[in-house]
Amino acid sequence: MVKISVNGTMHDVDAPPDTPVLWVLREWLGMTGTKFGCGIAQCGACSIHIDGQVTRSCMLPLGQVGNAKITTIEGLSPTAAHPVQKAWLDLEVPQCGYCQSGQIMAAVSLLKQNPKPSDADIDAAMSNICRCGTYPRIKAAIHAAAGNAGKAGAA
Ligand code: FES
Ligand code: FES
Repeated sequence: MVKISVNGTMHDVDAPPDTPVLWVLREWLGMTGTKFGCGIAQCGACSIHIDGQVTRSCMLPLGQVGNAKITTIEGLSPTAAHPVQKAWLDLEVPQCGYCQSGQIMAAVSLLKQNPKPSDADIDAAMSNICRCGTYPRIKAAIHAAAGNAGKAGAA
């Protein structure tokens, strides 16, 4: 049994310690907002926060989490009212939507470290893949959430 903190709640998980955290979230805890894309830490669909730091959960073994606090898309806000989620809704960022929870988790982490990112900062920080090509709207929504006037409508 492994104890982990997810979105402010402690959970006892009866899973082998080498189980990727992505599968613990989805299969053991029923939190399906975090998605499986590549399984090799390349696409970012499985992005979560570990102590506030964006992390790809598909290659993170359960046994390595320890006392760190996990935050998933479900934990950002119970009513989707986080400023980044609001910007995503206002600018209608998603197309199919599959990559978007990972994109949002990456954007929240970026804005925590850099509240007023430039285009170049966003390009450097946002390495998550979107097969639908929503990158211009993602960038505009990050500017909107940052309050960067003049750039938020660029999509
Ligand atoms: S599923 Fe984890 S990075 Fe692609
Ligand atoms: S919205 Fe479809 S993969 Fe990004």
